Amino acid sequence: MNRTWFWVFSLLVGLVLFFIFFAFYSCTSTVCFGVLEKPDYVNGQLVKHSFSSVDLYRDRNLDLEGNDVIVYLHIQKTGGATFGRHLVHNLDVDPPCSCVPGVKKCLCLTKNKRVWLVSRHSVGWICGLHADWTELTGCVDPWFKKVDDRGRKHRRYHYITMLRDPVKRFFSEWQHVSRGATWAGARLHCNGRSATLEEVPFCFSGEDWTGATFSEFVSCKSNLAFNRMTRMLSNLTKVNCYNRTGLDEDQVSKILVESAKENLLSFAFFGILEEQSKTQFLFEHTLGIKFINNLEQKEQTHVARLLMTQEMVDIAVRTNKQDIELYQFAKDLFNQRVADVEKRTGYTVQEYFDYYRDPQREEEQEEDGDVEDDSGMQHGQGEERRLSHYPGEAQPEAKRLSRQPKS
Ligand SMILES: *[C@@H]1O[C@H](CO)[C@@H](O)[C@H](O)[C@H]1NC(C)=O
Ligand SMILES: *[C@@H]1O[C@H](CO)[C@@H](O)[C@H](O)[C@H]1NC(C)=O
Repeated sequence: MNRTWFWVFSLLVGLVLFFIFFAFYSCTSTVCFGVLEKPDYVNGQLVKHSFSSVDLYRDRNLDLEGNDVIVYLHIQKTGGATFGRHLVHNLDVDPPCSCVPGVKKCLCLTKNKRVWLVSRHSVGWICGLHADWTELTGCVDPWFKKVDDRGRKHRRYHYITMLRDPVKRFFSEWQHVSRGATWAGARLHCNGRSATLEEVPFCFSGEDWTGATFSEFVSCKSNLAFNRMTRMLSNLTKVNCYNRTGLDEDQVSKILVESAKENLLSFAFFGILEEQSKTQFLFEHTLGIKFINNLEQKEQTHVARLLMTQEMVDIAVRTNKQDIELYQFAKDLFNQRVADVEKRTGYTVQEYFDYYRDPQREEEQEEDGDVEDDSGMQHGQGEERRLSHYPGEAQPEAKRLSRQPKS
């Protein structure tokens, strides 16, 4: 009898050990027993950076009547359009932006008739379609000097942006492009000129890239979807803009990521699409401006409904290494900033919304009802519609010329 138990016990121990070893060998960073797991960077489980209080503390209490101006750097497919609309429709500022139903742009002026917000939904794409850091830093101040001359002598620019899980963002951009978006009108301005078509050829011939398959999408070398967040946040003059002749790829990549991190650190604020409550919490405590209605987390994105194979995920991870590194950095910074505000204020994010922020106002959440959106965030469950184009996207042919193709 004893001997039988001994063998049963041994067998069990053996099985458990086998299982552990099997798991050890079969689990890559994203797959375990054939089940797709979220990579570590997605959940913030992996903490790779710890920031000093200088980097965490951002208490800017903006004085919009004074010299403060918000500059919103809008990266494609980061939930940025939704957030951009919140900035014009949903901020508790006095006076509020003046918006006309059906018109995309609102008039956002202070009491002294000064522009306080640079964004697509207020002043439009004054620095070009989806202008990046390099374009904005070279263009915003000259624009104000021209337009705002009655007003302030100096302005303090507070850059803000939204980031998103780079793999989801990449898939989302592919979906958006295959539905007909091109952003061909982007100027890609750097060092005093736009990128040429030799430097950044379009991935499609003809009008757009409708119906592009995933493998077509990832085989185009000049596809700006790769590591888009890093490129748009870095100082591109450090790598000779879009001309990479004679430059070492790895070196360029390293410089871009470092530059993007450095610039992000200098931003007044950035939010994370996957973290709407914390984003709002941090925004309100950093800039000293509240939203009227709370930001909502939308789980049903196009991407959430998209079937991604492991192979597709692997490709996206492999081709977006810079963005993954940047996002890891950003998420650590973001979470530590949230924790820092919690520590300083003495309440948690949850307690803030439950008790401290505005106890009376819970019931009044209104639905935006706004379905026009390019973030892939807000459409219903039904069929996917072809999305409306941005201004400037409508005539890719005409816009090609604006990128100064070599003659
Ligand atoms: C971008 O980098 C270049 C080269 O390092 C530097 O001269 C320039 O001042 C930077 N641009 C901004 C806006 O900081
Ligand atoms: C790109 O850079 C290389 C090396 O710096 C230079 O020789 C070439 O003329 C540049 N091309 C363009 C289009 O500016």
